[in-house]
Amino acid sequence: MRKKVTVVGAGNVGANCALRIADQELADVVVVDIVEGVPQGKGLDLLQSGPVQGYDVLVTGANNYEPTANSDIVVITAGFPRKPGMSRDDLLMANYNIVKPATEQAAQYSPNAILIVVTNPLDAMCWTAFKVSGFSKNRVVGMAGILDTARFRAFIARELNVSVENITAMVLGGHGDTMVPLVRLTNVSGIPLTELLDEATIARLVERTRNGGAEIVKLLKTGSAYYAPSAAAVEMVASILKDKKKVLPCSAYLEGEYGIHGVFAGVPVKLGAEGVEKVYEVSLTPEEQTQFGKSAAAVAELIEVLTRNR
Ligand code: APR
Repeated sequence: MRKKVTVVGAGNVGANCALRIADQELADVVVVDIVEGVPQGKGLDLLQSGPVQGYDVLVTGANNYEPTANSDIVVITAGFPRKPGMSRDDLLMANYNIVKPATEQAAQYSPNAILIVVTNPLDAMCWTAFKVSGFSKNRVVGMAGILDTARFRAFIARELNVSVENITAMVLGGHGDTMVPLVRLTNVSGIPLTELLDEATIARLVERTRNGGAEIVKLLKTGSAYYAPSAAAVEMVASILKDKKKVLPCSAYLEGEYGIHGVFAGVPVKLGAEGVEKVYEVSLTPEEQTQFGKSAAAVAELIEVLTRNR
């Protein structure tokens, strides 16, 4: 039997997730949105791409969760994107009020699913989905690090004029201004980045990575990035559905790893059929540990706001 993935939110990120899942023939897809007709229309459009692209999966749209029943994965993309000048954190309460009911309903119909959260502010929305669903921590995971490292890898590849495929990078911490790109562990086919680029150039690329989302928001003016975010989310879907056990930077619930308790933050994880099958603890320099601590504290502050206002 085919696998089933629900994508909540039929906007830019959601529709592109559905497109990529269908294109890669990973699963049947149900797209859910509150706007009447939009998920159904996009679902039909995607279904009709099948004969041209050569995929045989079903793509449907709905305004309720009944058709999502027994999904293997639920990807949550519903919510407001940023506008120019906004930080991801500015979306906190508005998106909490969307992610909370969406998770409640999705979890009710798919009690065994794995939740992949994409809505921002990412780590706080992961925490929301974790608390609301009551799912075990391995079944709630956030998409952030793959996107942040993809941006870093793309910039490094352009700088060195080499293939993006040769670049391995690692980013820890929250998905925001406090993210911690680990330059020390970034390499090009095993060659340390620090041997290929000077300090000033690396610092410039790190800064551009940190502001990678904002750079696109400023250009688009009416929304935020969606091609790379959907590609990153679907890499996670594929790793889980195919039980590939890829080691990827994702937002996971930490209970003492890196000295951090009770928040979601970006760490390297093994993603397989059970969801987050392992969190890898990399030894950090004191400076990296301090930066990671600050980043996790920024996530904890958002969670505190949510706890006070919910
Ligand atoms: N249930 C389902 N869908 C909802 C709900 C809800 N309660 N509330 C809003 N939506 C839908 C909107 O109708 C819209 O179709 O979520 C969709 C959001 O789409 P876009 O506005 O295009 O935003 P998008 O670019 O997809 O970003 C969505 O992902 O990357 C993050 O920061 C981004 O938080 C944002 C989210």
